[in-house]
Amino acid sequence: MTTTPKPKFKNPRAKFNYQGRPCSISGVGSYVPERILSNAELEKLVETSDEWITTRTGIKERRLAAPGEFTSDLGAKAALKAIQRAGIKPEQIDLIIVATITPDMPFPSTAALIQAKIGATRAAAFDLEAACSGFIYALEIGQQFIMSRTYETVLVIGAEKLSSIVDWEDRNTCVLFGDGAGAVVLQNRPNTHGLLTAVMGADGTKADLLFMAGGGSRCPATTESVASRMHYLRMEGKETFKNAVQAMQTAAEEALRRCELDITRIKRIIPHQANRRIIDAVGDRLGAKPEQMFVNVHKYGNTSAASVAIALDEAVESGSIQRGDLILLVVFGAGLTWGAAVIEW
Ligand code: ACO
Repeated sequence: MTTTPKPKFKNPRAKFNYQGRPCSISGVGSYVPERILSNAELEKLVETSDEWITTRTGIKERRLAAPGEFTSDLGAKAALKAIQRAGIKPEQIDLIIVATITPDMPFPSTAALIQAKIGATRAAAFDLEAACSGFIYALEIGQQFIMSRTYETVLVIGAEKLSSIVDWEDRNTCVLFGDGAGAVVLQNRPNTHGLLTAVMGADGTKADLLFMAGGGSRCPATTESVASRMHYLRMEGKETFKNAVQAMQTAAEEALRRCELDITRIKRIIPHQANRRIIDAVGDRLGAKPEQMFVNVHKYGNTSAASVAIALDEAVESGSIQRGDLILLVVFGAGLTWGAAVIEW
């Protein structure tokens, strides 16, 4: 007689019958520092002009964190707003994911620091690095925990203090970036579809288009590395521009294709706010009407992982997105990385 061997382990997911459930954004919030740095002020720092910056990028001003204000402070303030709008308590949060390229420190994670600042005592916490695409990467990863019923409540934050890695003597880059944070609370909301799909992609062969050479294991901080300005970000602007437009178009089209949606069905497109000309070119290629594109790059410049999160919050606050609308987020960043997400708001 043969006996069935006892299973060596039990798959915890089996009890859920592997059935996914939708994941929605139940609250969104953002925070930008008070200090405004105008193009006119930049004219005093480097050889540039308001006219050059405006025509090439659309940026008029950006925000700068105060000297004692760090990425975790910006992220915590954005998170508390999202938590309040979701109508939850910090103790309910199961997981915090922070997308950033400017963590307070290499470790511990900025997510752990934010966990302490907002009192999310039950939450696990980690950082994710996908540069300007980080928010969509984090959204997709956070969604997996809701879909799989592993967690009830996930907090996703994009937060940056880019002013800490900008070379204020390099006019090619210093006019482009700013500080800020945006956050969303992810939960299952009955009778809504929420996040319909998220596309993510990367091409590491083009890593040299946008990078910061110093501070990692390849080039730890030394007197020489600091003297040769290796702890600042560097970018090949023109090539980055071309790749950004192409990758954002491809990612957005793939996301729409998966949902069998035509661009006309999308109420609002929220692109990564890097450069007005990139936003316009992507909108044109997607066949979108200018009024579908949400733009706030003139106020904040490029805030990397915080960019679409801040824009999403402003779009909701200003009433340009209503519950039930279909929206498209599309991002691009160093890596190279890119992503797009379709959401039923
Ligand atoms: N003020 C005045 N002149 C300037 C400035 C400035 N701030 N910056 C550059 N210039 C000069 C250049 O030196 C160059 O002069 P030269 O012809 O004498 O050499 C001239 O202006 C033209 O420079 P280009 O690089 O050709 O200008 P371009 O039209 O490409 O615009 C820009 C530059 C705005 C950087 C653009 O290429 C761009 O937006 N690139 C993409 C940036 C981006 O999207 N990054 C996203 C990812 S960011 C992330 O992941 C963190």
